[in-house]
Amino acid sequence: MNLAEDLHEFSDSPARDGQIKIHDAAGFEGMRKAGRAAAETLDHIAPYVQPGVTTEQLDDRIRRFMLTKGGVPATLGYRGYTKSSCTSINHVVCHGIPGPKQLRNGDIVNIDVTIVVDGWHGDTSRMFIVGEGKRKAERLVEVTYEAMMMGINAIKPGVTLGTIGAIIQKHAEANRYGIVTDFCGHGLGRLFHDEPNVLHYGEEGEGPELREGMFFTVEPMLNLGRPDVLILRDGWTAVTKDKSLSAQFEHSVGVTADGVEIFTKSPAGLDCPPYAV
Ligand code: MF3
Ligand code: CO
Ligand code: CO
Repeated sequence: MNLAEDLHEFSDSPARDGQIKIHDAAGFEGMRKAGRAAAETLDHIAPYVQPGVTTEQLDDRIRRFMLTKGGVPATLGYRGYTKSSCTSINHVVCHGIPGPKQLRNGDIVNIDVTIVVDGWHGDTSRMFIVGEGKRKAERLVEVTYEAMMMGINAIKPGVTLGTIGAIIQKHAEANRYGIVTDFCGHGLGRLFHDEPNVLHYGEEGEGPELREGMFFTVEPMLNLGRPDVLILRDGWTAVTKDKSLSAQFEHSVGVTADGVEIFTKSPAGLDCPPYAV
């Protein structure tokens, strides 16, 4: 989610009241179902992410699969967006628009899907390595996944979002990657983008304190080079200013009594490459 846009355009939305929602057991049930459907969508698409396929062919498969699951793509018609996924290749940081471009051997691509099932939003993304990956790219992908999981694994009541952000930032910077600060994770549930903003950087002990029943995404973007981002003329595609490679993973999670539940874990075990499909 784009932080600047979010703060301005959603500030007067009646459904988004500035409060972080606390959900009950029925909410957890709803998010389990939506999260699982989102993860299954990425599991389903994994074998098709091959050299020669176009990102709009992948997007078509994603939309059709979501419909078979009884869900709808949340991105269709969202602020004028007309696709069922975002496909962000190489130096594209996020919000790449599926199109006629073919994937090539050695590309890395993030596929980000959000499905609405019974009114609940499951939002998740993963990196895919097309054909044989280059070592530098594989390492960026691996560290990005680690950064997300280190942040998620620290989630429990009483911990603050600043602490989660600090953990993610530290892991990125320890590996000399740029942590993107222009986009953030977000609360979700019956809304696609809700309070809180989940920054992937921060200071330990700062920011809102986590409580049981909060739902949000963790979706860090790490760049091989500088953290700076540009938005292309299409109004969506975010790229690294220095054209360096960028990677991102995203899970939707809920805070439990003593920790965290990940709603979007891959049932097929395809959370992070390398794997065989
Ligand atoms: N799924 C993205 C997120 O993680 C949002 C995509 S909005 C779109 O928040 F319109 F670009 F698809
Ligand atoms: Co998201
Ligand atoms: Co997403």
